Amino acid sequence: MQADIVVLAGDGIGPEVTGAAESVLSAVAARFGHSLSFSHELIGGISIDTFGSPLRENVITSCKGADAVLLGAVGGPKWDNPAAKTRPEQGLLAIRKGLGLFANLRPVKPHPVSLEASPLKAERLRNVDLIVVRELTGGLYFGEPKGRERVNGTIRAVDTLAYTDEEIRRVVECAFTLAEGRRKKVTSVDKANILETSRLWRQTAVAVAGNHPGVQLEHMLVDTASMRLIAAADGFDVLVTENMFGDILTDEASVLAGSMGMLPSASLGDGGPGLYEPIHGSAPDIAGKGIANPVGAILSAALLLRHSLGLEVEARAVEGAVDCALREGLRPKDLGGTTGTKEMTEGIIKQLKS
Ligand code: IPM
Ligand code: MG
Repeated sequence: MQADIVVLAGDGIGPEVTGAAESVLSAVAARFGHSLSFSHELIGGISIDTFGSPLRENVITSCKGADAVLLGAVGGPKWDNPAAKTRPEQGLLAIRKGLGLFANLRPVKPHPVSLEASPLKAERLRNVDLIVVRELTGGLYFGEPKGRERVNGTIRAVDTLAYTDEEIRRVVECAFTLAEGRRKKVTSVDKANILETSRLWRQTAVAVAGNHPGVQLEHMLVDTASMRLIAAADGFDVLVTENMFGDILTDEASVLAGSMGMLPSASLGDGGPGLYEPIHGSAPDIAGKGIANPVGAILSAALLLRHSLGLEVEARAVEGAVDCALREGLRPKDLGGTTGTKEMTEGIIKQLKS
């Protein structure tokens, strides 16, 4: 098959890890006889420095015309001025919104070799195999009004949490569809004892569940869910939750996998190109040193093959190659080893070819 991929490498270790993912995709294309073409555009801090804007309109247009988008990470201390008018993160929010990517899939399945790298007891992690479906284009991230006002010397800041039933329905539907191909359980996470949006979330989840009789639905308050993720994560199959809760819970869930560096994500909308990015940030402290763990980005490339290109066999080949490379002893620094980005990537490509 022929496919066009836009690479938004971004800031910090972004270019290093998307470079690794791109090499792996090229190796997959060579082995399976596909033709993948890559074009590179700027996002985040580097785009602010070059063009004065974290994401230009023409980049959104290029992404819309592509089959998929591969993203690294955005942000860094250089652009971390709270008074700044433009921030790198705005670029990320703009591409998610611009492509209508309402469902962010974050699978967490600790690799056996990473169990020791987690501060949690290995026996609590061994059977963990969950996926968080995070709503990505609504909630506090995008709600209006948003801003500040000064009244009689007092500064008041406002963020708005709002959801329509349709915004909830489509992401919960995505969670149920995923659960049908897995262990058939959906945990809908909310704060329905306090928030009106959560009560609508719960009611909508119940309605969606009515169309999926084979899947069990449970509701869980977000504070309970955060505790259960540490204490008994193997009880979860698919979790679905609103944008901010999902942001927080997936950082927490990454601890189960030993390191943020291991985890991929896929952001999907209604049929257009999907966006694939590791869940880690730009890690400015290790940028340019050649030691970033490329596994999260490479596994994101596997999700790209699966969800945007429909290449399941190829996706599994990448996941299998990562698995073998880790089993054969390659260990990036965040897992307590010394394998650099390049060596890790080459090790995975070697497995792919064999
Ligand atoms: C994430 C990140 C982003 C988010 C930031 C960088 C805007 O934390 O993808 O989880 O909050 O969504
Ligand atoms: Mg986050």
